Amino acid sequence: MIFNQRVVKPSESFSKQANLQKDNHSKLMNEADKSYENHWAKLAREHLSWKKPFTIPMTWNPPFVEWFADGELNISEQCLDKHLNTATAQKIALIWEGEPCEGHLPSERKTYTYAQLHAEVCAFAEGLKKQGVGRGDRVALYMPMIPEAVIAMLACARIGAPHTVVFGGFSAESLRDRILDAQAKCVITANAGFRRGKILPLKTAVDKAVSECPCVISVVVADRLGETQSSNYKVGEIPFTATQMHAGRDVWFNDICVNGSKLTAESLPAEHPLFILYTSGTTGKPKGVVHGTAGYALWTNLTCQWVFDIKPTDVYWCTADIGWVTGHSYVVYGPLSNGATVYMYEGAPDFPDYGRFWRTIEREKISIFYTAPTAIRAFMRQGDSWPQKSNLSSLRLLGSVGEPINPEAWEWYHSVIGQGACPIVDTWWQTETGGVMMSPLPGITALKPGSATRPLPGIAVEVVDDNGQAVAPGNRGKLVITKPWPSQLRTVHGDPERYAKTYWSTFAGPAGAHKEPYYFTGDGAFKDADGDIWVIGRVDDVINVAGHRIGTMEVESALVDHHCVAESAVVGVPDSVKGTAIYAFVTLKNEVKQSANWNDAKKHDLARELITHVGGIIGSFAKPDHIRFSDSLPKTRSGKIMRRLLRDVATGHESLGDTSTLEDVSVLANLRQSTDDE
Ligand code: WTA
Repeated sequence: MIFNQRVVKPSESFSKQANLQKDNHSKLMNEADKSYENHWAKLAREHLSWKKPFTIPMTWNPPFVEWFADGELNISEQCLDKHLNTATAQKIALIWEGEPCEGHLPSERKTYTYAQLHAEVCAFAEGLKKQGVGRGDRVALYMPMIPEAVIAMLACARIGAPHTVVFGGFSAESLRDRILDAQAKCVITANAGFRRGKILPLKTAVDKAVSECPCVISVVVADRLGETQSSNYKVGEIPFTATQMHAGRDVWFNDICVNGSKLTAESLPAEHPLFILYTSGTTGKPKGVVHGTAGYALWTNLTCQWVFDIKPTDVYWCTADIGWVTGHSYVVYGPLSNGATVYMYEGAPDFPDYGRFWRTIEREKISIFYTAPTAIRAFMRQGDSWPQKSNLSSLRLLGSVGEPINPEAWEWYHSVIGQGACPIVDTWWQTETGGVMMSPLPGITALKPGSATRPLPGIAVEVVDDNGQAVAPGNRGKLVITKPWPSQLRTVHGDPERYAKTYWSTFAGPAGAHKEPYYFTGDGAFKDADGDIWVIGRVDDVINVAGHRIGTMEVESALVDHHCVAESAVVGVPDSVKGTAIYAFVTLKNEVKQSANWNDAKKHDLARELITHVGGIIGSFAKPDHIRFSDSLPKTRSGKIMRRLLRDVATGHESLGDTSTLEDVSVLANLRQSTDDE
């Protein structure tokens, strides 16, 4: 990240009209400072509708926290029922557009008003209950970006069944592991989804996964292909094989809906788990991040008001998939709880061409647009002519999330997409934080390309050294959160020790420089002289590939799973579009190298096979970009692979082309000799 001195003054129109004005912002900052618990309690009373009011703001038994714990509510009511007796009931809640398929099926567009979405959610929630799914039962979702995905999430929330959404790009094996870890009783999927003109056979992957998951008693299938009478979609002339439905287990989504249902939302304790979302960490096994109900509902609601400045007239588009936390918080719960009109698109941003996004913004008059730096860089590469073909004047606010945005991409986003007039909110947060923690506020904060600037009111962050002491401006340190906050993860599903160890043991507190333990984010950062924070990236073994968080250990485990591989080490290397690319060093088993016909062509084939293998085990998005065979890997005496060295080797090497390079790396063997003692 290049430290950039450019400062863009807060926009005047926002200074006068934003939801959060400067004086209110200062007031909130003061209140949070003076009386932390009361500050949050006041917001929770003002912004959530409680079925049973709470009396206890917070209970903090480090590292476990509860917020508003004796209160009861339901987040589906915050998103739907709350709007029913207001003008919002007849307002469009969701505009959905499907991807055209292989030239056979034109884009479909459907809209739901808040009243209609409420009806659909009640109908499906009651249907789920009839399937035997109830309060506390986990439900896995493996779905394309279709309205049924949103309906299913809200329906699960309505009956108190925690959902675990698994991104549709994950393999059957990854899906199986997540279903088993969550012990999900039900899986909701679709027969297919469309992406880049291709049919994604989701149900086939579910069948494969569920065959090894005895916990699953029912599979609910939304009909995206129009193969049933009750399909919500047009029947196109799409070539597909009829979906195999397993009698006694599989049911169609629409068949179980109880039309006309007015199912009352369960009154759930504030801490009732709303969802589990699996995310990569520093070990091979992804962790199930657990979020509760009230704190999450509060923070996703407030951040939409403050950061995105959502107003009744806005048409809001967050391009994230619902399989990631951004999709949870800023496609579904945050915007709907604010009565916003949400636009949702099924397919890839660059299909059928690079004009798709910009035509959509013009046609739907999108006013708030939230996407990832990797997408911005990919579009920037295609030149200005694509966005210039469309009228983007409806835009008034732009957002960025997922990785540090490089100043060059920021400037392009600002001038070409935002036409110099839209503030960019560079939002820093994580799956674990539930909602945005740091971001410029439109109309209040001066923007600095590449900096997420400051924490939001009530959020306490610091950049510290290894002893937990704040570092001086300009010095790099580790980013920590020094106080618990309402939307933080509550635990790791089934593994509270891992929760304590991963997040709270690095800066454990009492013995060190600070009394309370700090939450460790895994990110490195520094503060500039103005006190603005610049997040540099992960300091652990997690890499951020095109906005997807991937543990290097996960990729290593997938490689070692291949019968030819003895050992592997994976590092991230800079990539101009993806931010970080995956570079895998692989040591082969001796018998492979010694086999009679082992030659360069075979090596090349094996490299490709390994890439496909990783895709099959984790999902295509985790395929290594580079494979390099090496005789051994540099290690410390204690056997730890020296990733830093490997990173140097990987980045020092000129471009390896599309997929792989094959030469042995004798340099690594030499390095091993010279650095063994480190
Ligand atoms: C990175 C996505 C810099 C960071 C919401 C974090 C960012 C990880 C930013 C979480 C940003 C996210 N600037 N880095 N604005 N936003 N990150 O869990 O490394 O998929 O720890 O959540 O993304 O990724 P996750």
